Amino acid sequence: MTGVPGPGRGVFVTFEGGDGVGKTTQAALLQEWLTARGHTVVRTREPGGTEVGVLIRDIVLHHRGEIAPRAEALLYAADRAHHVEHLVRPALERGDVVIQDRYLDSSVAYQGAGRVLGREEVRDLSVWATEGLLPDLTVLLDLDPARARERLDADEKPFDRLESERGAFHDSVRAEFLALAEAEPDRFLVLDASRVPADLATDIQGRLQALLEADAGVVRAAD
Ligand code: TYD
Repeated sequence: MTGVPGPGRGVFVTFEGGDGVGKTTQAALLQEWLTARGHTVVRTREPGGTEVGVLIRDIVLHHRGEIAPRAEALLYAADRAHHVEHLVRPALERGDVVIQDRYLDSSVAYQGAGRVLGREEVRDLSVWATEGLLPDLTVLLDLDPARARERLDADEKPFDRLESERGAFHDSVRAEFLALAEAEPDRFLVLDASRVPADLATDIQGRLQALLEADAGVVRAAD
C-alpha cells in the first residue's frame, strides 16, 4: 500500500498564519514532495482560487476605502463557497491532495479578531458556505508580526489593504490563530516560522506521512 488516497477520499491540507510568514514557500515544498511520491496535488488559495474568486479578491484586497465588516466577511465567505463547490470538493472526491493557502481560519482570525464581528458568527458563516468542509490538517506558521513585516518590506511589493493595517491588528490576528490551534490540536500543526524552511518542510512532511498512512489503514480496514 503506497498511501495514495483512492477516489472519494482525498486529503485537504491548509496553510495558515499572518502575512509574510512563508506559507507559499512551504506549500510549494509540500507540493513537490507529494508529487514526487505519486500523489495528484491541487494547489490553490483563498481569496482568489477561481475566476469568480479573482474578482472577489480584487475587491477585498484592493478597494480603496472602507468595506463594511459584514460585507467583508460575506465577500470572503462567498469566495470560499464558490471555491469549495467548484474546485476543492471535486478534487477531494477524485482522491487528490488539496494544498491550500488560507481557508476559514483566516476569516476567523482576520474578520473575527481584529474587527467588530464575533469569531463564532464569522466561523458559522464559513461553515454554512462550505457545508461544513474542514481540513484534515492545518499547518499554522507562527511568527512575530514585526519579523514578518521585515520580510514583506524586503519583498518590495506594495501592501494590500490588510497588510497595511497597524501592528496591533496583526498581533491580535496572531493570537487568534494560536487560540484556534489550541482549540483543535488534532487538526493543527503549529510551527515556529522563524526556523529554516527546509526544517519546517521536514516536520510538515512527517505529519503528512502519518496522515496518508492512517488514510491507507482505513482503506485496508474497510476492504
Ligand atoms: P494572501 O493571499 O495570503 O496575500 P499575499 O498575496 O500578499 O500573499 O492573503 C490576502 C489577505 O487576505 C491576507 O492579508 C489575509 C486576508 N484574508 C482575510 O482577511 N480573510 C480571509 O478569509 C482570507 C482567506 C484572507
